[in-house]
Amino acid sequence: MLSGSELWLLRLMADRGLALLDADTLLIVIEERGELRVAASAGSSTMRVRIVPVDGSALGELYLSGQSLALDRPRGKDAAWLHELGAEVRAALVEPLSLEGQGGGMVIALRTGGGFRGPDREALKAFATSVAQRLVAERSVEIKRLRYGMEARERERTRWAREIHDESIQGMGALRLRLANARDIDDPQQLREAVDVVLDGLGNEIDGLRHLITELRPAALDDLGLAAALQALARRAQAIEGLDVSIEIELGQEDGRRLDAELESTIYRIVQEALTNVSRHAEATSAVVSITERDGVVRAAVTDDGKGLPDADRLGPRGDGLEGGFGMGGMRERAELVGGELEFGPAPTKGTTVRLVVPLAGRPSREAEAAAAGQAPLDALAR
Ligand SMILES: Nc1ncnc2c1ncn2[C@@H]1O[C@H](COP(=O)(O)OP(=O)(O)O)[C@@H](O)[C@H]1O
Ligand SMILES: [Mg+2]
Repeated sequence: MLSGSELWLLRLMADRGLALLDADTLLIVIEERGELRVAASAGSSTMRVRIVPVDGSALGELYLSGQSLALDRPRGKDAAWLHELGAEVRAALVEPLSLEGQGGGMVIALRTGGGFRGPDREALKAFATSVAQRLVAERSVEIKRLRYGMEARERERTRWAREIHDESIQGMGALRLRLANARDIDDPQQLREAVDVVLDGLGNEIDGLRHLITELRPAALDDLGLAAALQALARRAQAIEGLDVSIEIELGQEDGRRLDAELESTIYRIVQEALTNVSRHAEATSAVVSITERDGVVRAAVTDDGKGLPDADRLGPRGDGLEGGFGMGGMRERAELVGGELEFGPAPTKGTTVRLVVPLAGRPSREAEAAAAGQAPLDALAR
C-alpha cells in the first residue's frame, strides 16, 4: 500500500517529469499485491481506468516483460494495454521501474499529436531511474519512522496503563473494601452514610475515567479539527485547574485546508502536555497557546506566566526532564517524529515558553492521506 507521502512524492515527480519531455501525459504505474495502479499522472489524461490486475491483462503482460518500449501509431496487440487504460493516443513510451526488491512499476509517456523523438526516450529513461531512487529512499525513511513511531506508542501505552492502574483501579479497590466493610454495619443510618460515601467515590472514578478517555483520543480532533480540539482543552484546563488559557490560531489557509492528521495530533499532544506541565509545576495564572503557519513553516508555542523552569541540572542532559520518553522528553520525541524541533526556555517577561517548529515541505496533504486510506475516489489520486 502506497503511503500518503509516497503518493505525494510520485505526484510531485510526475509533474516534474512532464516538464522534461515533450509529452501530453505522464503516468507512474506501481505494482501492488498483484495489481497495477496508476499512482500518479500529470498532463491531460483521459483515462477511465486506474487499477488493472497483473494477471490476464495486456498491461500486466507489458509490465512482466520488463522492457522499454516506443510505439508510434500503436495498433492491434500493441495497443491492447492502452485500450485497457482507456487512453487514445498517437504515440507511447514505456520504461520499467525497478524498486530493489520492493516490487516494480512503469513510467509511461503519451502523445496525441505526433511521435516521440530520441531525446524523449532518453529523458524518460533518466526520469524512471530517478523515480525509482526517490521511491526506494522514501520507503526506507518510512520504515524507520514506522519503527520509531511504534516504540514511542508502546511507551505511551505503558504510561496510560500505569495511569489507569494508579488512578482508577486503586481508587475502585479502596471503594470495594469500603463496601465490603459496610456489609457488617447494623445501624441503618450508618449503613446509608457508608453507601453514600461509596457512591460519591464511584462518581469521582467515573469522572476520572471519562477524563482519561478524552485525553486518550480527543474526538474533537478528528471531527472538528485542531482549533476546536484545542479550545476544548483550554476549557478543561480552566474548569479543572482554574488556569486561564487563551488560544490564538493563524493558519493562513483561506480555503479551510487542514494540516495533515499526524501533524494535527502532534501539535495537540504537545500543547496538551505543555498545559499539563503548566498546571502541575508553573504556579501560573494564565497561559497562551499560539499556532501560526507562515512561509511553509508551522509554529506552535505555549507560554505561561509562572515561576519558570528549574535549574538546568535538574532537567537532565538534554534539558528536557529526566522522565525518559514521557513529559518533556516525549514532547521532543513527538516533534522529531514529524521532522520538527522543540525548545523549552524562559518566556520574555516571566514564566516558560515551549516552542515547536515544523516545516511543511514534503508533508502529505489531507487529500493524499485520505486517498491513501482508500477513502477518496481514485481520480483524486492522479489529479
Ligand atoms: N511550565 C513549566 N513551569 C515550570 N516548571 C516546569 C514547566 N514545565 C516543566 N517544568 C519542570 O520540568 C520538569 C520535567 O517536566 P516533565 O518532563 O513534563 O515531567 P513531569 O511533568 O512528569 O515532572 C517538571 O518536573 C518541572 O519541574
Ligand atoms: Mg509533565
